Amino acid sequence: MQRQQVPFAAHLCVCVNDRKGESPSCADGVGMQLKDLLKSGVESRGWKGRVRVSHTGCMGLCARGPNVMAHPHGLWFSAVTPADVPAILDEVGRRLPSG
Ligand code: FES
Repeated sequence: MQRQQVPFAAHLCVCVNDRKGESPSCADGVGMQLKDLLKSGVESRGWKGRVRVSHTGCMGLCARGPNVMAHPHGLWFSAVTPADVPAILDEVGRRLPSG
């Protein structure tokens, strides 16, 4: 095993869990679309390699979804829509270290 510091200034985790309609889940909305939009936004802002976007399984607050979590900033966005993506990236961007 090797141990190192997290190699990204920020990591956005986008829940795309799909409960197939059995109960509320982030995939009921636009989870995967949000991931794609966030990835595109990260690239267009020149953050590729600094900010990572990953889709995840359930993050535990399903009824509030779609959910996006930003590390290490401790931010949690819920009931996210595609229209919210620029605001999420703006908020993350304000917290990125310069450079
Ligand atoms: S399904 Fe997204 S938090 Fe549970």
